[in-house]
Amino acid sequence: MVNVGIIGGTGYTGGELLRVLAFHSKVEVMAVTSRKEEGKEVWEIHPYLKGFYDLKFVKPELRYFEDCQLVFTAVPHGEAMRYVPQLLDAGIRVVDLSADYRLDKETYEGVYGHRHEGWRDAVYGLPELHREEIKKAELVANPGCYPTSTILAAAPLAKMELIESVIFDSKSGITGAGAEPTSFTHYPNLHEAIVPYKIVSHRHYYEMVQELKAFQEDIRIHFTPQVFPGSRGILTNAHILLRGELEKEELEKIYKEFYRDSPFIRLQEEVRLSYVRGSNFCDISVNVGGERAVIISAIDNLVKGASGQAVQNMNLMLGFDEADGLMFPPLFP
Ligand SMILES: NC(=O)c1ccc[n+]([C@@H]2O[C@H](COP(=O)([O-])OP(=O)(O)OC[C@H]3O[C@@H](n4cnc5c(N)ncnc54)[C@H](OP(=O)(O)O)[C@@H]3O)[C@@H](O)[C@H]2O)c1
Repeated sequence: MVNVGIIGGTGYTGGELLRVLAFHSKVEVMAVTSRKEEGKEVWEIHPYLKGFYDLKFVKPELRYFEDCQLVFTAVPHGEAMRYVPQLLDAGIRVVDLSADYRLDKETYEGVYGHRHEGWRDAVYGLPELHREEIKKAELVANPGCYPTSTILAAAPLAKMELIESVIFDSKSGITGAGAEPTSFTHYPNLHEAIVPYKIVSHRHYYEMVQELKAFQEDIRIHFTPQVFPGSRGILTNAHILLRGELEKEELEKIYKEFYRDSPFIRLQEEVRLSYVRGSNFCDISVNVGGERAVIISAIDNLVKGASGQAVQNMNLMLGFDEADGLMFPPLFP
């Protein structure tokens, strides 16, 4: 058994890490933190985990993680950078779920509007794109939830340099906003509504630019996020204006080939959030009409969009099978 730890265990992604890791036969969660709930049992904060852990929340202090080989940092951006360098200096590998290490330092400081006080080089943790680098990494920057769904939808065509421009229209469940209630997530403000927000200015855009331009420098990218009144899931419609026309069979061949060795990508005729709920799958359907391809992707934002993907990265880093502990079916309906 390999010992792992979690900094930020009371939030949505921390809770989901605990849920997903309860299935894993090769790792044990040794330490999990909360400043507000220190001393409480895991099940007191996450009652759905009762019976799975005999573990109490501790303060986020290095001494609790000294016997861990790997730690997940599941804290807000700007906070992970306070812990990551200490962990790395102690020889502990890290999967950071925040935005602190996903972009280069200069872009990060411009986009997030504050200085980066704990810079370290990291590998962008999208296994379908960076599998071999992740295996060797000390620090993996787990991607944002929207970038996971959008980049996976467009990468195969970007790699072939077939994209004129792409518009990502994404709809997310509200757990993407974290566990702290706000007026934005307040029930009457959200129910029976789909709410566009940060319509042309969401920070996740820069991850899409970073990853897709690495394939195709001149690609033009647009992104509009929305939330719907559900808890989990991101559905992305990627409207891709192609350089010339493609047949559906050609498109299918490109996607099949690109994702040949990717156990969590499922090419489907029909894509629905309810077909991926609770799972680490990213379902993708490819459609084309003339010069416009419409690639639809669906993920569970807390699993493939966060904690499941973090465990997938952990598996690669620790030399396990990429799918260890993660190959469970979605929860339907
Ligand atoms: N929610 C998603 O779908 C999603 C998807 C991808 C990535 N992410 C990213 O993952 C990270 C966690 O997101 P979340 O949704 O789980 O957030 P969350 O629900 O707000 O939880 C945040 C957690 O971090 C802890 N925390 C906050 N400030 C801290 C600090 N300064 N030091 C130590 N612990 C601190 C909190 O516990 P205490 O305050 O008790 O210590 C809590 O356990 C964020 O960076 C987020 O952007 C989230």
